[in-house]
Amino acid sequence: MERTFLMVKPDGVQRGLIGRIISRFEDKGFKLISGKLVQVTEEQAKRHYAEHENKPFFGELVDFITSAPVFAMVWEGDDVIALSRLVIGKTKVAEAAPGTIRGDFAAHTPFNLIHGSDGVESAEREIANFFEPQELLGYEKSISPWI
Ligand code: PPS
Repeated sequence: MERTFLMVKPDGVQRGLIGRIISRFEDKGFKLISGKLVQVTEEQAKRHYAEHENKPFFGELVDFITSAPVFAMVWEGDDVIALSRLVIGKTKVAEAAPGTIRGDFAAHTPFNLIHGSDGVESAEREIANFFEPQELLGYEKSISPWI
């Protein structure tokens, strides 16, 4: 079963959107296996966004993500990495389709509400940057097999 790291960014927490964002992934049928409010440290932010360290906006990205608490989560499901990015919508909010989280709630890039891992390797690295292995709860959900 695939796992991904999703993080409601400071703008989503400040705007009171944690519950509605979680609902989108519950509605899709994914399983939440961990979640917590985190005040991201500068070191943790730089590790998280390491692949963008040479981009001109790297400093802004680190400043933004450390500016106030985020809600960090790990979700599990078939193809959850790619499918959750569809639920999230495009990075640039002007390109995010209605029905996606960013399309429905975000009005200004880069305040695009939520981060989602873009591959198996980055998901593993990002999960390890925020969670201890014992915080990931691999419980069974007693639901119909088609969900
Ligand atoms: S790139 O250049 O295509 O690799 O970048 P992209 O995938 O579009 O964005 C990577 C993350 O950087 C955020 N971003 C920005 N932050 C601050 N300022 C500016 N100008 C900016 N442009 C992009 C973007 O929201 C992505 O964050 P995550 O958390 O990965 O969604």
